[in-house]
Amino acid sequence: MSPSSDSPSPPPLGRTAIRPAWDTLPGPVRQAIAEQLPAPVTAVVNQGGGFTPGIAAQLRLADGTAVFVKAVPTTHPLVGTYRHEGHIAARLPLATPAPRLRWTGTTGGWVVLVFDNVEGRHPDLAPGSADISGVVNAVAAMSQTLTPCPILDVEPSSTARGDWLHGWDLLVHDMPHDLGGWERRHLNELVKAETVWKAHADGPALVHGDIRPDNLLVTTGTRTGTDAGAPVDGIAVVDWARASRGAFWQDVADLVPHLIMAGHTPAAAEACLAAVPAWQQTDAGVLTSYAIAYAGYWAWASRQPAPPGVPHLRTYQRHAATAAIAWIRHRADGISPIP
Ligand SMILES: Nc1ncnc2c1ncn2[C@@H]1O[C@H](COP(=O)(O)OP(=O)(O)OP(=O)(O)O)[C@@H](O)[C@H]1O
Ligand SMILES: [Mg+2]
Repeated sequence: MSPSSDSPSPPPLGRTAIRPAWDTLPGPVRQAIAEQLPAPVTAVVNQGGGFTPGIAAQLRLADGTAVFVKAVPTTHPLVGTYRHEGHIAARLPLATPAPRLRWTGTTGGWVVLVFDNVEGRHPDLAPGSADISGVVNAVAAMSQTLTPCPILDVEPSSTARGDWLHGWDLLVHDMPHDLGGWERRHLNELVKAETVWKAHADGPALVHGDIRPDNLLVTTGTRTGTDAGAPVDGIAVVDWARASRGAFWQDVADLVPHLIMAGHTPAAAEACLAAVPAWQQTDAGVLTSYAIAYAGYWAWASRQPAPPGVPHLRTYQRHAATAAIAWIRHRADGISPIP
């Protein structure tokens, strides 16, 4: 059963996207992709994570390896984000915990990206999960690899992210009847405060800009050599379509609403980040403003009509808005009043 708009829990990770299957790609496009691969395709696993209605599939190859392919028609409104992802992925330093882009190109009216396949699963961010420390450490450690920003022509976060990461300014002009009492009482402060973070968003790092559990994979593998058979765990960060140049704290802070959505209290979610320098060093008022911006964005976006072919996005955003509002209220109560 698909989650309804009143579903008590967010749509399950890995089953949020309705994507066209690999074999709906025109034959000549599949052939052009096959020419980039070291061996024939033997099996296909279509992916259901994320929300974008593009093709996303793991291809198993006859030589025992696998690749991950994303593709979208050049006429699709999101084609620019696929091209941006290809531009970024091709230039990530090798030390980035991200799958290597093997090939990208436009063929037969489709933009295609072919990555190394990551064997893994989405992390569980629920309280007590053993995945949490690995996720926090992996995201925190990216600041070293991605500072200074290894890619020159990337838009600053203040505009790349600031242009969409707000929403109270939109809600105030078109007040929804179901907006909560707390939000109504604080609406004017929220409108003012949701822009404060933008003045602190720019900086020297490459910011992923979309850190959430369905863009993270806990890798599973086994060692070869003397430790043969022992499990190897790590984190891979995928989906660099929203990367910008900015201050690294944004990627760290992005974990908080997802930890809350996974069942943490706001205080417990923030406690998961307590040891991360980028979190410790960011001004409390800036973080409160950032929480306010996310809450506003999700509160506004979740009330918009669903885009065609994306049935679970608005439910997800409604849960995300609830989490972000809980986060603001926690901060506004004790840590940092609304700036
Ligand atoms: N290199 C990879 N190897 C294996 N699986 C991957 C890889 N990259 C992504 N995935 C899986 O495919 C899903 C969709 O990938 P991705 O997030 O890149 O697509 P998207 O269409 O941009 O989604 P979104 O709606 O999040 O923008 C991910 O949630 C993940 O489960
Ligand atoms: Mg994604």
